[in-house]
Amino acid sequence: IAALQEMVEEIRELKREKNAVILSHFYMSPELQVSHADGGIADFVGDSLGLSVAAKGAQADNIIFCGVKFMAETAKILNPAKQVLLPSFEAGCSLAESITGADVRKLKAQYPGVPVVAYINTYAETKAEADICCTSRNALDIARSFDSDRLIFLPDLFMGRNLQTRIKAETGKELILWEGKCEVHEQFTPQRINGLKMMYPEAQVLVHWEVPDNTVADALTGAGGVVGSTSDILRFVGESKSRQFILGSECDLGATLRGMYPEKEFIVPCIKCPHMKQITLQRTLQALRAIGTEAEQMYTVELAEDIRQRALLPIERMLAFS
Ligand code: 13P
Ligand code: SF4
Repeated sequence: IAALQEMVEEIRELKREKNAVILSHFYMSPELQVSHADGGIADFVGDSLGLSVAAKGAQADNIIFCGVKFMAETAKILNPAKQVLLPSFEAGCSLAESITGADVRKLKAQYPGVPVVAYINTYAETKAEADICCTSRNALDIARSFDSDRLIFLPDLFMGRNLQTRIKAETGKELILWEGKCEVHEQFTPQRINGLKMMYPEAQVLVHWEVPDNTVADALTGAGGVVGSTSDILRFVGESKSRQFILGSECDLGATLRGMYPEKEFIVPCIKCPHMKQITLQRTLQALRAIGTEAEQMYTVELAEDIRQRALLPIERMLAFS
């Protein structure tokens, strides 16, 4: 722990020296989620929507993004005057990588006039082709808000099917879906969740929108639970009378939940996002050290200005909606 503590101290010092803030996602390893006020490094910890809002309002010259590449890109799109640094460009995302701007153009040609909702888990060139973006927190409300009877929702197939179940029942609206999958959440199969439910029949089940649709149906029977975004999961636990929960989402969210609700018990099948885990304390320190040196370009998010501007519009629409 002394070695970690030393790195934390140096990061805190460098943030001040180099005028930097650190934004950290709930899926980061625990040491990257401790807030600055509590002696850690994070100036803001949140879900993808919260992080976008924080990035837009960041005042510091440098934003260090402890998250994945599409999140750091979104920060740059929203706050282009700042330097956005990602501690590792290996931090991708199976959803973002499943679709390109050219794919969306083909879809639009196939379904002319049908509005396109792009999940924030996409790269800038994909967002640039969309009418509006959404995160897992506002996807349902955004999809509901369109008058049209069809909607292209991309790229998450399972999330699309989960949204479709709700929306079709309420409005009859049909979602046209893409084949993208989150390599973490697709592993929460009915078998995995049902096995845990047999062992812990009193536990409520917490599943992210990105888990398979047949898992969701099973997860909510019996003691109940929630399907939703990371923030929905955190809020649900706070409001629930239950003391025991099975988590169907990224492993390190389990640490976040235990920290927030120490009196409750969380059963967490430990599936980690390999992309999120590319971001470490060591690499965060290296990125900070690189600021102002030749090495900084290794960490800096760069976007073509025309793509940035086109991607900004659907993100701004989403933020205005929220
Ligand atoms: P949230 O929008 O809930 O932060 O989700 C981000 C993500 O990557 C889910 O896998
Ligand atoms: Fe992408 Fe899934 Fe990792 Fe989130 S958890 S960054 S959706 S691969």
